[in-house]
Amino acid sequence: MRGPATGNPRMSNELFVGLIGQKFMGRAHSNAWGQVNRFFDLPRRVELQAACGRDADELAAFSARFGWKTHTTRWEDLASDPKLDLVDVATPNHLHLAPAIAALEAGKHVACEKPLAGTLGEARQLRDAAKKAKRSKTFVWFNYRRCPAVALARQLIQEGKLGEIHHVRAQYLQSWGGPDTPLSWRFQKKQAGSGAHGDLNAHIVDLARFLTGDEIGEIHGAVARTFVQERGIPGTDKKGKSDVDDTVLFLASFRGGAVASFEASRVATGHLNANQIELNGDKGALRFSFESMNELWFHDATLGPRTAGWRRIVATSTAGEHPYAANWWPDAHVLGYEHGFTNMAADIVRSIAGIEPVVALPDFADAYETQRVLEAALVSAKERIAVRLSEIR
Ligand SMILES: NC(=O)c1ccc[n+]([C@@H]2O[C@H](COP(=O)([O-])OP(=O)(O)OC[C@H]3O[C@@H](n4cnc5c(N)ncnc54)[C@H](O)[C@@H]3O)[C@@H](O)[C@H]2O)c1
Repeated sequence: MRGPATGNPRMSNELFVGLIGQKFMGRAHSNAWGQVNRFFDLPRRVELQAACGRDADELAAFSARFGWKTHTTRWEDLASDPKLDLVDVATPNHLHLAPAIAALEAGKHVACEKPLAGTLGEARQLRDAAKKAKRSKTFVWFNYRRCPAVALARQLIQEGKLGEIHHVRAQYLQSWGGPDTPLSWRFQKKQAGSGAHGDLNAHIVDLARFLTGDEIGEIHGAVARTFVQERGIPGTDKKGKSDVDDTVLFLASFRGGAVASFEASRVATGHLNANQIELNGDKGALRFSFESMNELWFHDATLGPRTAGWRRIVATSTAGEHPYAANWWPDAHVLGYEHGFTNMAADIVRSIAGIEPVVALPDFADAYETQRVLEAALVSAKERIAVRLSEIR
């Protein structure tokens, strides 16, 4: 079966997927596409059709291991392959733009890794290309939205359980970025755009926007630091410049009035993957920490001081109360990192079939709004000024 090279992505029983990138996210996405029909009843069956990566030998082994039918080292072939319905972009940040736009122009749906791009300019081009490709849907892998505890938090906030939100406090702390870590695309501005900021603050800005349903209006101040200026070049005894931030902190306020703090670091000794967020409202508070991703903590202030206190909810109920949980294992047979990606793959398939996702899926326009916040924080840090989001277009 062959589909048109341009125009409307076909509707059929299969959804033919092509993946660009075969390493960290390549593995996470391959696992998700491969698992999704086993755990979710979906209108279409995902076919792992074609994989793309730079290293031909590694790619052949990767494709065989994850079940991709064909593979190529040229992303151009994959972006224009008439058989594909969806192209999944899991390459370094500077390599989102060209494949995603080529795939959109070929009439395909596109799922792209975060941040949408390394720079605001490229993110804007992606947003505009998505708008132009009217029949294609776009998705950005902000996977943490689909941890059941996070999706539950969103539902509780929508139900008004926090009342008026006053505080959003978010951190994403890691510690792998010390001087012994070799140079890679992640430490080079030309390829990554930024360091901990685009890598980690992107996730917590998305989470804060998703959970509150509100937009950030102003950045009040920010600080960015590069502690490690050069790193060993793998396979040589030379060193190269590490020119991205190792940490970025900033203060912000939401249009609805809440104040917020964000902190991302790759050198936060003692923390491995501490992606955490707390929201305090006048009726209650919620907090989530990814290292205990099955738990959501809820403080219901309407109970009054006699019985109010932080309550630990294990968000794994199979009776349907907890988003996505019923698709997996019995109560408290806990979920892990990969389930967020599979839950997202399920919602992507649903969305393409015209079915509402369990919770909102970020598209290119949505991820562009996160990118504007990231840009505003960088301007604030560089110029040592407050920046209104209306100034960042
Ligand atoms: N959602 C998340 O939680 C999450 C986590 C990690 C990374 N990411 C994002 O995923 C993207 C990829 O990150 P990663 O950690 O997988 O990187 P990685 O370095 O592990 O893998 C990058 C892949 O891109 C491929 N590649 C590079 N240039 C290519 C080219 N010209 N043609 C074809 N393939 C090419 C490489 O072969 C490699 O397979 C980045 O945008 C990153 O920010 C997201």
